[in-house]
Amino acid sequence: MEEKFISIKDAMKKGTGLVSVRGWVFRERGSNKMKFVVLRDSTNIIQCVLKKEDFEKQWDEIDSLKIESSVEIVGEIKKDERAPTGFEISVKKFRLIHLAEDYPINKDVNEELLGDRRHLWLRSRKMTASMKIRSTVLFALHECMHNLGYTEIQAPSMSGAASEGGSEVFEVGYFGKKAYMTQSWQFYAENFINAVENAYAIAPSFRAEKSKTPWHVTEFWHFEVETAWADLAKDMEIAEECIVHVIKKVLKENLTELEILEADIEKLKKVKAPFKRISYKEAIETLIKKGHKIKQGDDFKSAEERSLAKYYDDAFVFVTNYPMHLLKFYHGENPKDPTTGTNFNLLAPGIGEMVDGSQREPDLDKIVERLKKAEIDLGASDWYLDSRRYGSVPHSGFGLGIERFAAWICGFDTIKDSIPFPRTPTRFNP
Ligand code: 4AD
Ligand code: MG
Repeated sequence: MEEKFISIKDAMKKGTGLVSVRGWVFRERGSNKMKFVVLRDSTNIIQCVLKKEDFEKQWDEIDSLKIESSVEIVGEIKKDERAPTGFEISVKKFRLIHLAEDYPINKDVNEELLGDRRHLWLRSRKMTASMKIRSTVLFALHECMHNLGYTEIQAPSMSGAASEGGSEVFEVGYFGKKAYMTQSWQFYAENFINAVENAYAIAPSFRAEKSKTPWHVTEFWHFEVETAWADLAKDMEIAEECIVHVIKKVLKENLTELEILEADIEKLKKVKAPFKRISYKEAIETLIKKGHKIKQGDDFKSAEERSLAKYYDDAFVFVTNYPMHLLKFYHGENPKDPTTGTNFNLLAPGIGEMVDGSQREPDLDKIVERLKKAEIDLGASDWYLDSRRYGSVPHSGFGLGIERFAAWICGFDTIKDSIPFPRTPTRFNP
């Protein structure tokens, strides 16, 4: 066919007259006189009707159509309230591009098999909508950083030493030596900012955590920001601005996808800066009041983090100034109370921790002392400390988990639905 094809979305916008569309068979049913094909492209689905009398020569082919076969169609579009998306195309010309084999996904397929067939499952309306929203999230984060004058700067994914440290690091062979998959861009960033001042990156981070929760994957996409001269308050403002910008963009670009996912659009519209800010101390008091078994000085369990966001208007909430013993060697000290740090976690309802940030400790001696006390050897990452040797400046940064943010927007109950190919302790294929 020589036709000029348009998307199903645009065909529906046109609403009447002749249209040429192409895509995949989403559903089909028929009799010996008629065939109803619901056609799917990346933008939507639409019902198409083929009458045997119009396609005598092609009828065998049409009759044998299977789900996910690819086809091209020219026909008359009109409104039809009985059709799944309110429009129907009465087909005038039909071309089979590829007759699909029996599709190995149907409603009886279990979770495990869906995982094996993830590359096919991505064709589902849910996953297509999710991937489009994810794409907007990534684009909007770049846009926000660009608007704020940040420099995007990449760090390597493999390195001679672990960044955050701990046991959660993947080891890989590196020409007879050991390398480690990056957990965070932060050590590099704290050096970059002495050049570009305001830096960010969006890249995968790797965590060899065995946790099988809906909120953990072993490879996640990490939005990380580092800002010279910024204090904790500024750091939180930047995180907040990015989040608000992204949500506005998704509401503008992805209404169709949000509707497909039956996402809570009102929840998204309600997001406005500034988000609520509470101290760690207040957070613990609130949890105790609500009957949680926790005391001052304890770390939060992720269920407690999810509850906290619920208790505070079921909205994003910043929890600041955790006790120093819960923090890492690079966290700064709160000048108002040095037993607490200049850090924050942003909690999202239903998700828990979504962003982790802090004003960093600028003083080399303090850091060296803490490393000694905690018996941490930075090893090949000792270069990190050069950021404190040659013109150390106050600075802050944060990391946001893209999948946690996207899953919150979509209202998913697992972040695995917000990444095309989730990596978990038991799944690294496809
Ligand atoms: O809290 P994390 O470990 O903080 C850091 O890595 C800092 N170095 C970031 C920085 O200051 N530049 O990770 C940051 C965020 C978390 O709040 C969470 O949203 C996400 O990354 N995250 C994960 N997302 C999915 N699966 C996992 N296993 C994750 N681990 C962390
Ligand atoms: Mg954290």
